[in-house]
Amino acid sequence: MIQLTRRYRFSATHRLHSDRLGDEANQNLYGKCNNPFGHGHNYEVEVTVRGPVDTQTGRVVDPAELDTLVERHVRGALEHRNLNEEIEEFQQLVPTTENLGVIIDRRLRAVWDEAFPGGKPTLARIRIYETARNIFEI
Ligand code: NI
Repeated sequence: MIQLTRRYRFSATHRLHSDRLGDEANQNLYGKCNNPFGHGHNYEVEVTVRGPVDTQTGRVVDPAELDTLVERHVRGALEHRNLNEEIEEFQQLVPTTENLGVIIDRRLRAVWDEAFPGGKPTLARIRIYETARNIFEI
C-alpha cells in the first residue's frame, strides 16, 4: 500500500462564537478569536489517500482527479469565504479548525465512492495547518 498526500491552500475568515453561550462566556472562551468582526487565516489542507499501486498506471491515484474533487467540494467552495456566514454547515457549528476538519472530511466522504469506485484509493487522512503552531488531523 502507498500513501500520497497533496496539499491545497485557501484563505477564509471566521469568528469563534457559540450561539449557545452569552457574550461574556464567548469572550472568556475564545478571547481575541471572538472579535465581532472576525479574522482571517491562510489555511493549508493536506489530503492523504492510501491504496495499491495500479498495475497499468503505476499510480495510487490520478492526481488530477483528486484535485478536481477537492477543488469542487473543499478548496474552491471555501476560498475567500466568511465561514460563519457563507458555509451551510457552520450555521450549526462553531467554525473552529476542528469543525473545519470535520466538514472537509464529511464533504469528501460523501462523494468519494462515486469519484473512486471500489474504494481505491481510500481517504486516509486530512491535515489542516491553521497557523504555524496549530495543526489538526482527522
Ligand atoms: Ni482563527
